[in-house]
This record gives sequence, C-alpha cells and structure tokens, in this order.
Amino acid sequence: MFKNAQGAKRKVITFDDEGNAVARQDSTTPSLTATTPMTSALKGTQKTSTSQSQGKKPSSEFDSSDKTLQNGLGQLAKKQKRKLQHQTDGKSKKLFNKEPATADIIARAKDLRKHRQSLPIHTAREIIIQEVKNNACVVIVGETGSGKTTQIPQYLLEAGLAAHGTIAITQPRRVAAINLARRVADEVGTPLGQKVGYSIRFDDTSSKDSMIKYMTDGIMLRELLSDPLLLRYSVIILDEAHERTLRTDILFGMVKSIQKQRSDMIEKDGRKDIRPLKIVVMSATLDAEKFSEYFYNAKIMYISGRMYPVTILNTVEPQSDYVDAALVTSFQIHQDEQPGDILVFLTGQEEIESLEKLIEEYAVDLPAQVGKLIPCPIFAAQDSATQQKIFEPAPLGTRKVILATNIAETSITIPNIRYVIDTGCHKSRGYNAKIGIESLLVEPISKSSARQRSGRAGREAPGLCFRLYTEDSFDLLDEDTVPEIKRCNLESAILSLKATGVDDVTRFDFMDRPSKSGMLRSLEHLYALEALDDEGKLTEIGKKMAAFPVDPPYAKVLLQSEKMECTKEAIEIISLLSVDTIFSSPSSKREEANEARQKFTSIDGDHLTLLNTLRAYESMKGDRDWCRENFINSRHMRHVLDVRAQLIQFCERIGINPKKSCGHEYDIVIKCFLAGFFANTALLQPDATYKSIVGGLTVSIHPSSSLFGKKREAIVYNELVFTTKHYIRGVSAVESAWLSHAAPKYFGQRHA
Ligand SMILES: Nc1ncnc2c1ncn2[C@@H]1O[C@H](COP(=O)(O)OP(=O)(O)OP(=O)(O)O)[C@@H](O)[C@H]1O
Ligand SMILES: [Mg+2]
Repeated sequence: MFKNAQGAKRKVITFDDEGNAVARQDSTTPSLTATTPMTSALKGTQKTSTSQSQGKKPSSEFDSSDKTLQNGLGQLAKKQKRKLQHQTDGKSKKLFNKEPATADIIARAKDLRKHRQSLPIHTAREIIIQEVKNNACVVIVGETGSGKTTQIPQYLLEAGLAAHGTIAITQPRRVAAINLARRVADEVGTPLGQKVGYSIRFDDTSSKDSMIKYMTDGIMLRELLSDPLLLRYSVIILDEAHERTLRTDILFGMVKSIQKQRSDMIEKDGRKDIRPLKIVVMSATLDAEKFSEYFYNAKIMYISGRMYPVTILNTVEPQSDYVDAALVTSFQIHQDEQPGDILVFLTGQEEIESLEKLIEEYAVDLPAQVGKLIPCPIFAAQDSATQQKIFEPAPLGTRKVILATNIAETSITIPNIRYVIDTGCHKSRGYNAKIGIESLLVEPISKSSARQRSGRAGREAPGLCFRLYTEDSFDLLDEDTVPEIKRCNLESAILSLKATGVDDVTRFDFMDRPSKSGMLRSLEHLYALEALDDEGKLTEIGKKMAAFPVDPPYAKVLLQSEKMECTKEAIEIISLLSVDTIFSSPSSKREEANEARQKFTSIDGDHLTLLNTLRAYESMKGDRDWCRENFINSRHMRHVLDVRAQLIQFCERIGINPKKSCGHEYDIVIKCFLAGFFANTALLQPDATYKSIVGGLTVSIHPSSSLFGKKREAIVYNELVFTTKHYIRGVSAVESAWLSHAAPKYFGQRHA
C-alpha cells in the first residue's frame, strides 16, 4: 500500500523545512535566519534542514503492506457482516486513566525546564526577543512542534514585554487554546488561571493576573467591543495564521489598525498613558511574504529545526474508500509497529462514528497477545469536556486511536501520538452568495493542511505519517486552503466590524477581499434583521446583537423574546441547538432509539421536541440510566445546561429578564425564531416538496427531524446545508400569515 524510497513499493521520506519530500537525514543543529522581505527571496538557501536521526529502523513489515491491506480488507469484509457493538459512556470512562488530581506544580515546571531548553526554538530565544522588541510586527515561521506557541509567549514574558499589558495568543480552535494554556501554565509553574490562562466562548479561566492568555480569535473580536484599542494587551500573537479563518482575517485588519492608532496617539498626540502594541504572526506553513507585505513589511524570521523527524508514506494506488483504508492501516500499525498512539484525520462526525464502531468490532478478534486498540473520537460538535478525553493516556498495554476532524490538525500536541493517518480530505464550507446557501462538501485538503497533519507526530519522538493517497495526488493539491472570507457568510463579521466602529466595511483593510455579492447579501440580511438602519449604520438592536455570544439570527431571537415575553424558552431552545444533537442513535438500535424519541416528539417540529426533551430530562434530574434508556446523550445535555446558564447570565447583564416565560403558548416562541430566521423559510408545494422562499430552492427535511415526511403549510429552519441534497435541520411548522409580522422589512417589501 505504501511506496518505498526507490519508488517501488515503499517510500520513506522526511521533511525538509518547506515540508518537501527529501531523503532521510541525520541530525543537524537547529539554526535560525532572520530576513527582511527584501532578502527573503533567498529563503530557500537560508534555511537548514534539521531532521534528526530516525531512531527507528524502516518498518520492514510495511514492505508487505499491500498484502496486509488486502488481508485486512478481506477480514473486514467478513466482520462487516457481524453485528456492531457500541461503547457506552460508562465504559469509555473506565478505559482511560485519570491524571493525578494534585501535581506538584513547581516540581513539574522544573522537570519541564530541560525539555524547554531542548526545543529547536530555544537556540533562537535571544534573537526572537530582540526582533520583537525592535519591530512593531514580526512574522515567524518555524516547523511544527518546534516550540513557537508554547515558548515565544514565555520568552516575551521573561523579557519584560508583559510589563504593561497581557500577551495574547489567538487560536482558531478552543481545544488548542485550552490545552496550550494548560501546558504553558505547567511550564511556567503556576496554576492555570493565574499567570497563564485561557478564554474561549462560555469558559474564561484567565484572571487579571494573567500575563499570558490563550484565546480563540472569536473571543478577541468580542473583547474589541469593550476595549476598542485592546489596551489591556501589550503583544498580540496571531497564531496559526495560515488557517485564514474568517475571524482571523478580520482580526488581522483590526489589530493592524489598532497598532497604528496607538502609535499615532503616542507619537502625534504625545499620550504618555498609551503603550505601543506589538504584533507577532506565526505558523509552520505560511506564505510569509504575503503576510509581511500586509503588516507594513514586517520582519520575517524563519526558524529551522524540528523536534523529531516524521517519515511520510504515500499509498501506491489511490484509495477509493479512505475509511476502510484508515481502518486497515490502524490495525496494521497496531499489529506491526512500535508502541505509540494513532491519530486519524477524517472529514466529519458520521464518518468518525462509523470508523469508531468498525474498530471496536474488528478489535474483538485481535490475538490475545496484542493489546486493545481503543478508538477515541473528537469533532467540533462535542463539548469541551468530551474533547479533552483525547488527551488522557490509554491504559498500559493498549493503544489509542484518535479519530479526528481537522479540529486536531494544527497547534495541539496530543501526548504519545507517533502515527498519523491522513485521508487527504476534509469537509469544506462553501457559500453561494447569490442564493444564500451554505454547502458542506468533502474535498481534498491543501498541501499546507497535509503538512500540519503530519506535524501532529514527531513532537515527542520520531513519527510516521501514512497518507492514504499517492505522492502524485499530493503534488496536485493546492498549496494553501482558500481563505474562509472568500467562501462564507459574512454577517457576523460585518456586525463585529460595524460594532467596533468600522462603518464602511467595503473599505476595510482585508488581506483578501470578500466578494461584493457576498458582502451585499449579508448587508441586506442584517438590514432585514433590523441590525442596520437605512443608511447602513448599526441600530440599537444591532449593537446588542453584536455583543451576544451567538450568531446574529440567534441574537435576534433573544432580543425578540424580550418583547414577546418568552426569553426562558428562547434561551432553552438556543442552548439545545448549541450541540449537534442531544439524541443518540446507534445504528444497531436505530428503531429502539426512534421509538424512545417519539415520547418527546412535538407535532410542531424540532424546536418544541427539544424543549419537551429538556423538560423530561430535568424532571428526571438528568438521571444517567434514564438518559441511556431514552437514547439521550447525557454529556451533550450537560453542555446544554452549561450554555443555558451562560446565556441567562448574559441576558441578566444586559437587562433582559431570562425568567419571562410563555407558559404553554409555544406559538409565541416559534414566532421569535421566525424573527431571526425569516430568511430560512419554505412553503409546501402541490407536489409535496418544500421550496425555500428565498432563492426558490427545493429543500429536503433531514431524516433526523421530527417533521421528516410531514406536510405543513410553511416551515422555518435553523440550518440549510448542501451535502448530497439541500437538507434543512432544526425545522418547525409555522403559519404563512406569521411571516410578514416576523420580518416586516423583509416580507413587507419583497414577499408579502
Ligand atoms: N501538552 C503537551 N504534552 C507534551 N508535550 C508537549 C505538549 N505541548 C507541547 N509539548 C512539547 O513542546 C513542543 C513544542 O510545542 P508547540 O506547540 O510550542 O510547537 P509549535 O511550534 O507551536 O507547533 P505547531 O506549528 O504544530 O503549532 C512539542 O513538540 C512537544 O514536544
Ligand atoms: Mg503552534
């Protein structure tokens, strides 16, 4: 299955600094080069490859991998006929050892000091400090695992750069923010939340004493509302900048402008109370020149040297079914390779759960002398506590196989990962601005993503990355992922910009400009939501919407609920919608699960079905056995309660009474949802299909919805996503007469 170095059956490749395939190399000393944009054309010659000796002989077992794969697939085919088994909440808990509750923090920091000094980036410590002190903006590119995210903030702290403000490090994902903060708190030697903290939506462990703060880019954008010049920060590190998420792109423009404003206040206005803001942009896979140009010709630093080498293996032939190939490769590794956990990159929850089941089923027949192989899923819809499970060590003698979406692709170190299996695909969100439809399609990743994925190995020991695609396919991949701003709905971004004083969003200093049609459609929708006035200025409603920790349509629902006196129910339903689903439906017990769900099903649709379920759950005081019997995901339910508590707090803070209830008059709360989601409505057609009011698309109610197969005059939905069809989820029945009341600006003028 995997080619060799001579181009026969097996290929052994190690990375050079650009992630290109080169021959295996012996260890070299990490080195550093700092360049200005003028000299950066020389970068290819400035960098030194630093792979260290492999420490592992080439796995001769893999020479016969084609055969093993064939055998594996044969057995798999047999196994697939067997009944699937399922892992229960209780069981999965017992499988992992908990870390000791109380660790000696100081002693641990001391232990970690040696490790810190062995990181490739350590040799560049002084020069990094100098360059950040001497320059307003610095772009730092260094190998995955070399120490950028954990060390640079500490270097800057040690050099006194946090004397007048916190050092913030933004991350595109919360799981990274949490774990990096934990690690760095350990290294610094203080409890999490003191010197080092993190802040993510609905969870802030930082304090006023935090000098290093890891945070999601979304939280940083929100902080701009209360601190428009980000005066509490002295340095902002924009990490994983290559990801180009919508929020990161907005942050780029905002911090750039803030830096200029602060420097003008100091230089032109002679303000002594203002300090300059430093910007550091970092990644392992970055188009450094482009970033440098954008950030006023920032200094570029290339830091070479990687922690341990990662050997890349490509398949000889393209794989038509990458889930099967991932399954077989996992078992191949488990049986043939040295100890160490496996990280598999898949595209989404469904795929992850189906591979999880296959692994459990297949593992039953492992020979007695081979330890257990324990699947461990992670995807965005899980709550943070569930996501943290991937960091727990597997019991002695067993091997953990983490099944992840690209949530685990960048930034994080998962202890004990030695093997990465890269399917080469991800789900990519697209947006058709003309009809306002989002799509979610499985697509090939970029080279940059492939390099990030392989970089999750090689952090604590040499690693192997099995790419389930050919080397030729890799060569055909795009260099970078298309920035999200060019392919997504821009409403929340525009709202954030307007709320921070950027009135003319079309003139905002975007690194890559979004399409005009996308911008116009979002402005129109915000106008219809009454967030903008006739001149495009933010209204009072818009200001409040920008402050809510939820997307604009949900914020509108909450504001409307105040008027219609049903905030209690609105908060509850929004909390219930904050997880992917509160129901579990194992494929072997689908009928039982469906039957159990009938008890809670409302004939009016999903919103009230969710509410009924929450009421029943609370009346049973969240009993776990009851949840299991009723196929309710108790972990997700606890997350729902958590979100509800946060939304209640938020409403109280801005003066909305969260206790106002509509009692059993549930029409009222559905009308509130219509006020936020009027653009997500569809009408029943004579041929029993539904056609969306906006765009006239034929939409299909998702099979998981309580209105699946039902005919109602009109419906409202929370989500429309194109996968194989235009599926709608979170669906409730409405009356067409409600539409013009719900959004007079919209239906009054165009559709009424
Ligand atoms: N939670 C952890 N457990 C064990 N080791 C860790 C942990 N976090 C970091 N490390 C160690 O510190 C090294 C540096 O990690 P860091 O996240 O700073 O690298 P990075 O250069 O930012 O990588 P990337 O480009 O992948 O984000 C890792 O290679 C690993 O050896
Ligand atoms: Mg990092």
